[in-house]
Amino acid sequence: MAIKWSQDLSVGVNEIDSQHKELFETVNNLIEAMAKAKGKEEIGKVISFLEKYVVTHFGTEERYMAKFNYPDYASHKEMHSQFVKDFISLKKELEAGASTISIIHIQRRVVDWLINHIGKVDKVLGGFLQGKI
Ligand SMILES: [Fe+2]
Ligand SMILES: [Fe+2]
Repeated sequence: MAIKWSQDLSVGVNEIDSQHKELFETVNNLIEAMAKAKGKEEIGKVISFLEKYVVTHFGTEERYMAKFNYPDYASHKEMHSQFVKDFISLKKELEAGASTISIIHIQRRVVDWLINHIGKVDKVLGGFLQGKI
């Protein structure tokens, strides 16, 4: 069930790769906390950390895009914003009644999105940044 970073998800920029790995670790902590049916408070802590980390990470990518006039900046940033919005609603659902949100939801709404986004959208950005930074 755990999300695993592998070399084929590398975007070729060390700073971004390390943040992706850290993101995966945090998502795994969340899945584990939920699987072990840890208390709401503990799960809430992991979710808050994940939310902050996601925002930090998107900020890093967006800074690079702005600095090097990335042509797809607007659409890439929009995808990030959508994810944050969806993540916040997931967080609210969890806070409202953790029992209705299963690990399957996390898998679908967080894990699948991350893998798809990194493997497609971030990789294109990574290719663009190579040789520039
Ligand atoms: Fe990313
Ligand atoms: Fe991204």
